[in-house]
This record gives sequence, C-alpha cells and structure tokens, in this order.
Amino acid sequence: MPVRMKQFCVAIVVSVLAGTVNVHADDKATAAAVSNEDGKYFDKDGTPTFNIKEDGTVDWYTYSGYRRFNSECNVCHGADGAGSSFAPALANSLKTMSYADFLSTVAEGRKNLSAGKESVMPAFGDNKNVYCYLDDIYVYLRARAVGDLPRGRPAKKDDKPAAAKEQETSCMGG
Ligand code: HEC
Repeated sequence: MPVRMKQFCVAIVVSVLAGTVNVHADDKATAAAVSNEDGKYFDKDGTPTFNIKEDGTVDWYTYSGYRRFNSECNVCHGADGAGSSFAPALANSLKTMSYADFLSTVAEGRKNLSAGKESVMPAFGDNKNVYCYLDDIYVYLRARAVGDLPRGRPAKKDDKPAAAKEQETSCMGG
C-alpha cells in the first residue's frame, strides 16, 4: 500500500475512534438558531437551520422548503418526509445525516443495487427547482426531524425576505 494511502487509512481509523467520522447526531439543541441573516437562520456551526416561534410561525425558508419538498420529493419519500415503502423517511434520516452529506446525496443521487434490491435516488444537481432551494428543503426536513414541526402546511410564516427574492431570481434565471 502506498505510504500516502496508509496515512489516509490511519487518519480515518483515528477519526472514527475519536468519533468524528460517520457519527453525526442532530437534535433540538444543536439545531438551535443563534444567528439570522435577513430572515435566514444559522446554528452555532453556521449550518442553515429553522426558526419556529412560540405561536408556530415558521421562518420563510422552512415554509419554502415545505412547498419544494412536497412538489419534488414527496412522490418517493412520502408527504412531509414521512417515508414510503421504497424511499426512506427523511424526517428520520436527518436526525443522523450531516448537512454536507444531505447536499451531496441530493446533488449526486445514490444507488443501492445490492442483493437484488433496486433502490435509486435520482441526482438533482441539474434541476433548478431543487438546487435553487436546497437549503430551504434542508431546513424544512431538519425542522421535521428535530424541531417538532408537525406534518402539513405550516399555518403561519414570516414574509419572504428580500435576500430570498434576489437569490431566487439569480439562481432560477442564471
Ligand atoms: C424517484 C424517487 C425519488 C425521488 C423523487 C427522490 N428520492 Fe431521495 N431517495 C430515493 C431512494 C430510493 C433513496 C434510498 C437510496 C439508497 O437505498 O441508497 C433515497 C435517499 C435519499 C436520501 C438519503 C437518505 C438516507 O437515509 O440515507 C436523501 C437525503 C434524499 N433521498 C433526499 C431527497 C430529496 C431532498 C428529494 C427531492 C429533491 C428526493 N430525495 C427525491 C428516491 C427518491
């Protein structure tokens, strides 16, 4: 085995032992919003997150993610991320899936053809209705997974921030 390869393997073993690889757990405390840039919320690590006020009002991005998810992903993953017989319940997956893994899985897709199974997650990397709203879908599913967001259309939402309008115009138009 080449030396660099060996070093790489050692690094992986060390990180697994140290608990830094493949051990991602999300919960309400980790997902708590600590900052807000023009209506978009971030947790203490700078990862996009949801914000739900006491009266149930959700931030714009969570609401937008609800709409996008339930038009692009629900056919396979079930309404509100509740799962189906052939695709996992993302409202559970996001309890243990990191933001980076979420983004790459949705962009690149995934196939599991082992043992006669044919489980295919399509790649959405060139679908603007998905990639222009990836963070929206992520924060929505995160809210479903760890934020006690109930199923169905959120009754109350923040107004659409100017930044969301600008980002949408440049992403969808470009
Ligand atoms: C045509 C059906 C289909 C559609 C549409 C679809 N998915 Fe999937 N997705 C799957 C299947 C099947 C898997 C499981 C793949 C496997 O076995 O590795 C999966 C897996 C995933 C995973 C990994 C879950 C885990 O527990 O590891 C994520 C995240 C995901 N999909 C997100 C999305 C999002 C977001 C959308 C909408 C933009 C979407 N999917 C649309 C079929 C679909």
